[in-house]
Amino acid sequence: MALERTLSIIKPDAVAKNVIGQIYARFEQAGLKIVAAKMKQLSRQEAEGFYAVHSERPFFKALVDFMISGPVMISALEGENAVLAHRDLMGATNPKEAAPGTIRADFAESIDANAVHGSDAVDTAKVEIAYFFAATEVCPR
Ligand code: TYD
Repeated sequence: MALERTLSIIKPDAVAKNVIGQIYARFEQAGLKIVAAKMKQLSRQEAEGFYAVHSERPFFKALVDFMISGPVMISALEGENAVLAHRDLMGATNPKEAAPGTIRADFAESIDANAVHGSDAVDTAKVEIAYFFAATEVCPR
């Protein structure tokens, strides 16, 4: 087992549904600790930079438009195998394919408004946490 950190974003659809607390409760119940948090209205430039890896995909513009459609709740989570543990809680990208009881199955409507983002690997998590948080905004290890 490894103590890891991962980046979580509660997306505009879930913020608008007023379920930040319910999603945070799932993180805490799974043993994930919130070590940084901020609510933010992303600029187009910030959202495009964050999802730069998808810039050539057909859904890129819709994804960016959605991510700036309202505030997001950005957190860094820490725990044993946090990257995978968080992705297990999120469920599959398409909520129609997400396992029952996962965040996306319970709170997401569609693949393009799917409630949450989670880093896909420890290396990506480091880059994504640094994208949104200064070192002074994250709890020391
Ligand atoms: P991806 O990194 O593949 O999924 P995940 O968020 O589960 O790690 O895709 C990033 C986001 O892009 C995804 O959460 C929603 C959006 N997206 C679409 O809108 N349509 C698609 O067909 C795919 C694959 C992703």
